Amino acid sequence: MKIFDSHAHYDDAKFDEDRESVLENIYDAGVEKVVSAGYSLESSYESIKLSEKYEFIYSTCGISPNDIPDTVEKLQEQILELECLVKQNKKVVAIGEIGLDYYWNKENKELQKKAFIMQIELANKYNLPIVIHTREAIQDTIDVLKNVELPEKKGVFHCCPLNIELVKQALKLGFYISFAGPVTFKNSKNANDIIDIVPLDKMLIETDSPYLSPEPKRGTRNTSANLVYIINKIATQKELSPEEVANITYDNAKKIFL
Ligand code: NI
Repeated sequence: MKIFDSHAHYDDAKFDEDRESVLENIYDAGVEKVVSAGYSLESSYESIKLSEKYEFIYSTCGISPNDIPDTVEKLQEQILELECLVKQNKKVVAIGEIGLDYYWNKENKELQKKAFIMQIELANKYNLPIVIHTREAIQDTIDVLKNVELPEKKGVFHCCPLNIELVKQALKLGFYISFAGPVTFKNSKNANDIIDIVPLDKMLIETDSPYLSPEPKRGTRNTSANLVYIINKIATQKELSPEEVANITYDNAKKIFL
């Protein structure tokens, strides 16, 4: 079985003690590709460093809605710096994570939208897909996407909220849906219905590690080795073998990112 983790944060401090051995272990466990997701300038730099050190790691660069600065001027400066990173590094495979988050930040909605739109424009300029983070901002996220020119490769709703209307709209716009730990949670009531409506050719899997460990590892540090639980969940619901789910999601991720 070969596995593609489409979104992880191995630059996180939770891996400082044993990053090297964790990455060796997941590779041995069949995780042949990982996208290390940037969410700020600093983490974008760190993700690129990881992609330079490990052949099987690729990176995204972006400033998440929770990491944007407090003024438009500073935002423009940061995006210029981001552009330099994107231009110089061949293993940057997407712009992200970018989007809207009204759960953590309700006070700067307009600036969040501006940052989102500016980074979609950056993706267009370099012909890269986008990786979207959205939390308690579903309608505004869809509205932004409907009103901009989208990159040719569209992008991914990372750790997609388990909201049927959002998933339908995202699919209609041509986006991939990436499933993370929450699809395995016992209290995720919509998980089965959502797995049902996402076609196999639009499905990705991710850990968002070190966060969001799937059942039965919930509450522990997450690594890509735990993707088997997400694969098994999807396989049961779609009546496929785990191997088929791993291969299909691997090919999908390859298609959009590589
Ligand atoms: Ni993330």
